[in-house]
Amino acid sequence: MQPRNLVLPMFLAEGLTEPRPIASMPGVVQHTLDSLCTAAVEAMAADVGGLMLFGVPEQRDATGSGATAEDGILNVGLRALRAELGDDMVLMADTCLDEFTDHGHCGVLDANGSVDNDATLQRYVELAVVQAESGARVVAPSGMMDGQVAAIRVGLDLAGHTDTAILAYSAKYASAFYGPFREAVGSTLKGDRRTYQQDPGNRREALREVDLDLAEGADMVMVKPAMAYLDVLRETADRSPVPVAAYQVSGEYAMISAAAANGWIDRDRTILETVTSIRRAGADVVLTYWATEVAGWVQ
Ligand code: PBG
Repeated sequence: MQPRNLVLPMFLAEGLTEPRPIASMPGVVQHTLDSLCTAAVEAMAADVGGLMLFGVPEQRDATGSGATAEDGILNVGLRALRAELGDDMVLMADTCLDEFTDHGHCGVLDANGSVDNDATLQRYVELAVVQAESGARVVAPSGMMDGQVAAIRVGLDLAGHTDTAILAYSAKYASAFYGPFREAVGSTLKGDRRTYQQDPGNRREALREVDLDLAEGADMVMVKPAMAYLDVLRETADRSPVPVAAYQVSGEYAMISAAAANGWIDRDRTILETVTSIRRAGADVVLTYWATEVAGWVQ
C-alpha cells in the first residue's frame, strides 16, 4: 500500500467558528474553512492521493439549491482548497444533493414525494459543472440515479470540462453502515434510500451497475461500503478496465473506534488490517477517514 492509494473524505460546514466534533466518529470533525485547509495541508504532506469534499450547509430546501450556488459551502471549499494546495492535489467533490435538501434525499422529489430520477439528473449536471469550475478535478456522483454518469459526462463536455474525471459510486448499497454519516452532514432524512441504493443481498445487480457506469463513461468505479462487500469489490476489480475505489464508510470507522476505545481491539493494527484487506480485495483507491494517519504509517 502506498499513500497515493488513499483518499481522505472531509466535511466542511457553513457558519462555524470552531471545528465541530462528530460524536459518532471520534477524531473526525465538521471543518471550518481554516481547519479544512490545515487538515488538507497535513494530508498533502503525508502524500495522500486525494481529498473528497462534502459540504454541510446552514439552509436546506427542496431542490438543494445550495449545492449549485457559487457561494454554496462545498464550492467555496473547493476554491479555498485549490488556492491553498495549488494544482498538485486531486480534489474530488461529492456530486449529490442529500446534504443540501430539506427532505434529505439524494435527488429532487416528484408530486408523490418519490425521488424523480430524470429531474435529478438535470441538477447533477449543473452541480458537476459548478464543482469543476470551483476546482474539482474529479466529480463523484453518489446518488445512484440511473443514467447519472452519462448525463454528467455530456454536461461536463459541453461546458468545456473534458478533463474532469468521474468517479462513479457504482455499487452503493442501502447500508446501515452509513449511520454516523447522517450526523456528520446533519442529515434530515426520514425513511431510507432503498428505492435507489442496492439491496445488500444482491450481488449480480452490483456488477450490472458497474457495467452500465463503465459504458456511460465512468473513469473510476466504486464499491461502497467496503468491508461487508469485499466479494463485490473483488469481482468488480476483476472485470474493470478502469481504477476501482472502495469506501470505508462512517459506520466502519465508528465500529473500530468504539471497540478500540474500550480496549477490545488494537486500534492501529485493526485499521491497517482493514485498509489492507480492502486493497487486497482489489481497490486501487481506498476512501478512509484514516487516510492521513495510514499514509503516515506506510509512507
Ligand atoms: C450520499 C452519501 C452518503 C455517504 C457518502 N455519500 C450517505 C448515504 O448514501 O446515505 C456515506 C459515507 C459514509 O457513511 O461514510 N451523498
